[in-house]
This record gives sequence, structure tokens and C-alpha cells, in this order.
Amino acid sequence: MSRIYLDYNASTPLAPCVAQAIHAALEECYGNPSSSHWAGLPAKHLLEQSRAQVAALLGCTFDEIVFTSGGSEANNLALKGIFFARESRPAHIVTSAIEHPSILEPCSFLERLGARVTCLPVDGAGRVNPDDLQRAITRDTILVSLMHANNEVGTIQPIEECARVARAHGVLFHTDAAQSVGKIPTRVDELGVDLLSIAGHKLYAPKGVGALYVRAGVKLESLIHGAGHESGRRAGTESPMLASGLGAACTIARDLGWTRRVRELRDRLWMSLQDRFGDSVVLNGHPEYRLPNTLNVSFVGHNGTELLAALDGVAASTGTACHSGRVESSPVLRAMRVPAHIGAGAVRFSLGRGTTLEEIDNAIGRISTVLSRT
Ligand SMILES: Cc1ncc(COP(=O)(O)O)c(C=O)c1O
Repeated sequence: MSRIYLDYNASTPLAPCVAQAIHAALEECYGNPSSSHWAGLPAKHLLEQSRAQVAALLGCTFDEIVFTSGGSEANNLALKGIFFARESRPAHIVTSAIEHPSILEPCSFLERLGARVTCLPVDGAGRVNPDDLQRAITRDTILVSLMHANNEVGTIQPIEECARVARAHGVLFHTDAAQSVGKIPTRVDELGVDLLSIAGHKLYAPKGVGALYVRAGVKLESLIHGAGHESGRRAGTESPMLASGLGAACTIARDLGWTRRVRELRDRLWMSLQDRFGDSVVLNGHPEYRLPNTLNVSFVGHNGTELLAALDGVAASTGTACHSGRVESSPVLRAMRVPAHIGAGAVRFSLGRGTTLEEIDNAIGRISTVLSRT
């Protein structure tokens, strides 16, 4: 049975140009980018060229980019970095109920240090209401952090509108764009954000690299103290090799043309499932404001984990978890108030640059076979 990869929101393979960039860096740039001699200079040059490539995708300047080890570190740096940099005053942070754990866990940690955190609710499609944000902001609010697109259901938040609300109150705005960068436009000035997180392995770069955009003038405390790398925002010798992979990935991500084809394939999958199973399949997420590659669908009356296990060779994902023998929907689906019996049958199919028509048709065939058996 051939293998079909439909889990691009979990991780992507390396794009060929990314692999080439990394290979060249491995062979040529072994010097320390902080060394001023002949071996360090090419490493420094590659690091800064890569930074400029990331900045070009986001429409910012190169010195507004801090390289990190991935999306989780970028999110931690944004939240804790802003919290620790504030002058001693009460700190209130606003976020949403459907954020990634790398936002929610740092928020819990900061609560233990005295911060107050408000989690905005979402509607049935997974969107926050900017009016709720308006009401949540207080004199003590130091930061709003709302994800650009959700990893499980793909719902895209009204970031521009929410960022305008925050700005009107003089509050900094961070967005976790780990899932949106390279799939939809993410220019920071169009979004109106002050901080934005990127995860390399979601956009055809390797695991272990990411970046945080920090608008010029925003005060951010480093989480790792040491020598003054990354303009004092993250100590540790930088990896020109990983940075070059992220830079190459950001360069190809500037052209979003490929997402048209992927959206068509994603919609073909959804329409075929609807044709075959009618009301027994339910779409989770927003029908329109959704990542072009993401389809989260509940197979009503089924268990998503068991269904995936039976789908031989199809790599996809389920948000369900089994706690003490009881199947529970994911926190995201629960926050969207998806009924438990529907949430239990949720499966996330996420497509990517490599997905083919044959794979989608093959996956539809395998799903039909499995469902007709049960
Ligand atoms: C929305 C979102 N934010 C953050 C992360 C964490 O990124 P990383 O795996 O690079 O730490 C992920 C990864 O799944 C994600 O989907």
C-alpha cells in the first residue's frame, strides 16, 4: 500500500532549494559568525543574508528578526520577553482559548509570576470577536497574543482588526504565525502586528529553527543571557546552516501561487467526502476564513484515532485524546463547542506542496473502504 502524507501542518519535508542551501552552508561556513577573520566572515554573511530573506517575506527590516530554535521558542520569547521587559507594573495579557500550548503554557507560567491572563472565547468556527478583545483590554494590559491561523482547524483570525483594537489602546500585539507563514500573506505592516512567530519546519525548512519578528523600538528581555548575539535578544552562537535553510524557505514562500492548486485538492477531498457520506461528515473550522491546505472533518459516530489507525499508510492527524478509557475532543474543538460525539470523530488532513491529485483520490478510496467496513 503506497504511503500518503497529509500531515503538512505537523511538519513539512525540506524543499529542494532548502536542502541545497543547508548543504552548501555545511561545507563552506564552519567559522564562527562572530569571528572577524576569513573563516568567520562568510558565516556572518550567510547569517545576515538569511535574516534579510526572512525579513523580505514579512516586509520588515533585517534587524527586526531574531532567530530562534522554532515556533515554541519564538512564542516563549515574545510572551516572557515582553513580560520581563515591562517596568514594574501590573501585567495583564490577553490571548485566546485555542492557542498552541507554546502560548498557553507560558501564560500559565506568567500567571504564577503574578500576571493576569484573559483567554478570549471563540465562536463555533474558531474565530475570536474583536469586540470581546475591546472589552478585555484594561489599563494594565501589556500584550495581546492571538494566533494567525489555527493548527488543528485552520481557522484564520481577524488579526488586522484585533491589532487595530490593541494599537488604539497602546497595547503591543503578537501573533503566532507558525501555521500561516508561507500559506497566506503575512506582511507585518498589513497585519499591524508588533511581534510575529515563525516555525521553520512548517514551511519546508528544517526542524530546530524559527524566528521572532520584533518591531523596532519594542523592548524585549532575552530568555538566554550570555554574549550579545542576536542584538542581545538571544545569546548563543548562531547557526548559519539552519538560518540559511529558513532563509531559502522564506524566499520560495513569497510566491503563494502553489496554494491555489492545494486549495482545489483540499476542496475535492471535502466534496467527495460530502458526496459519499452526506450528514455523517462535519466540517470543523471556518468554511471561508481557513488555511488553503487544511481540512478538519468529523466522521460522526466514529473515533478519529481508530479511523486513522485503520487508514493504512495515510499520515494525518487527530486532535482526540483518550483519557481513562474515555475519548475526548481536543481543547480546540471543545473551545469551539463542537459536541463531544462529533469532536471524537475529528481527523485533520493537511496538504502541502508535494500533494498530488492521485494521492487525494487514493485517500478518498481508502477512507470509503474503511468506513464501509464499520
Ligand atoms: C500554531 C503553532 N504554534 C507553534 C508551534 C510550535 O512550533 P515548533 O514545533 O517549531 O516549536 C506549532 C507547531 O505545531 C504550531 O502549530
